[in-house]
Amino acid sequence: MGIAINPSILSADFANLQRELERISTADAAHIDVMDNHFVPNLTWGPPVVKRLREISPVPFDVHLMIEDADRWAPEYASMGCESVTFHAEAAIAPIKLARTLRAEGAKAGMALRPATAVEPYLDMLSELDMLLIMTVEPGFGGQAFLDVTLPKIARAAKAIEGANLPVTVQVDGGITEETILRAAEAGATCFVAGSSVYGVDEALGGPEAAIASLRAAAASVKRSGAGCGCGC
Ligand code: DX5
Ligand code: ZN
Repeated sequence: MGIAINPSILSADFANLQRELERISTADAAHIDVMDNHFVPNLTWGPPVVKRLREISPVPFDVHLMIEDADRWAPEYASMGCESVTFHAEAAIAPIKLARTLRAEGAKAGMALRPATAVEPYLDMLSELDMLLIMTVEPGFGGQAFLDVTLPKIARAAKAIEGANLPVTVQVDGGITEETILRAAEAGATCFVAGSSVYGVDEALGGPEAAIASLRAAAASVKRSGAGCGCGC
């Protein structure tokens, strides 16, 4: 599984989203955080805004739905052409049915877990997914510190996916920097969402594109030894 760097536009300038998407043209995808002020205590954008942004974006969309009633809303993002749609396991009533609907609409199906949600109850449905998102902060806000307590879960998930020989990407989201990406990659993640550490880089230092390159190089430098959890065990 190749390395992917997906910048989160949650840390972008909301007054210039078209330009902000153009500034990450070397990214694998733009990570679009949809929040409803119910599943998380924050509010961003919904289908009409995401649909229009997708039309002008130079990169694919990786939509992360932090919303209740995911069964109702997630398919809309797939049908509007978002390449990947991730719902939260804690918010879906029928996750297998929902993942199948997303795939039938032509999108990759992703499922996310909050930091304290165990992966084990979901191992048998991994074949229904294209991506498993393990949150490395409590969802809702950018700029939080990476939770190392999630590393063993990343390692267990990656091991289960490898063991079953499934083409499921392990994505991590929250607190990813040039330093924490090393531990997440060692644990087995291959797709990295980064908001503040991409958009927070000043143009004088190369801006978001330089940050994407640095994060990509850092992740590529990790030689995984197998089922390591990143804590040196
Ligand atoms: C948080 C969002 C993240 C957020 C990451 O709930 O899901 O995608 O934008 O931001 P950073 O990289 O700043 O932690
Ligand atoms: Zn996110």
